[in-house]
Amino acid sequence: MFASINMQALSSPEEDRMIFLSTFAANIPGIPVPQYTHGSMMLSEDALNQYNSIMDFPPFQGVIDKGQKIWETPFKNGSTFADCFDNGGVDIAGKFPLYNEELKQVITFEMALNTCLEQNGEMPMALIDPETMGALSAYARGLSDGMLMEIQVASEAALEKYALGKSFYFRRIGQYNLACASCHLTNGGRYFRDELLSPTIGQAVHFPVFRGGERLYTLQMRYQRCMEAVGAVPFESGSEALNNLEYFHSYLNNGLPLKSAVYRR
Ligand code: HEC
Repeated sequence: MFASINMQALSSPEEDRMIFLSTFAANIPGIPVPQYTHGSMMLSEDALNQYNSIMDFPPFQGVIDKGQKIWETPFKNGSTFADCFDNGGVDIAGKFPLYNEELKQVITFEMALNTCLEQNGEMPMALIDPETMGALSAYARGLSDGMLMEIQVASEAALEKYALGKSFYFRRIGQYNLACASCHLTNGGRYFRDELLSPTIGQAVHFPVFRGGERLYTLQMRYQRCMEAVGAVPFESGSEALNNLEYFHSYLNNGLPLKSAVYRR
């Protein structure tokens, strides 16, 4: 079932993206790539109808409103989150994660929000707290809805982080000895037990998600659940391992429109 896809360690990010795209085009033919953003729901009319009716009146709107309040409330020094970002924070989330040449590390959007807090003398938020960072991220990412993902890997040092994320994606882990790629590349768009698996491409552009309409998951929290599902001990949110993974994963989603936040089962 888990035939290995021929991935060359040295292929460029753009070559990788093409390999993923052609794998999905072969395994789930006839589905336009923008539909991939609906994940496994793209293969079920019923699931998509249910999704659309939930998204008409999202049960999690209150959390997003709370995020808006956090985003708009000035810090003690009078500045706001909007002052920390280009374009007041509008149409920027699709550039994250980015590689920061000075810090020599991958910076996620949530880390940038925390940096903004710290630079203004405020306490950073816990990356896995749905009430604070989760709500804030859901609102602030929504300011970039419709923007196309445009992750850059623009230097040798950045490529190294990308390559680390890529090797994580293909590494078999946990009791079940499965890699992210075993499920979401090789079997993306197919069933695994009773679950229809979403393809890698389309996954990174719509987080946070509200599972069951109420439980908020950031992208890295979702990675953690998948690691647990295969019997592996998850890395922490904000760890270098997950940041590099998110960098690689997000690059593969380049060109797809952002939409935050959405319902998931
Ligand atoms: C045993 C198979 C399996 C493995 C291995 C696995 N996942 Fe998943 N993953 C799932 C299932 C099942 C779901 C829920 C259905 C879906 O959306 O694909 C899911 C969902 C996701 C989602 C959410 C998709 C969405 O649109 O909401 C992301 C992101 C994700 N996985 C990333 C990863 C990453 C990164 C890894 C490696 C650390 C990984 N997964 C490993 C089975 C797996």
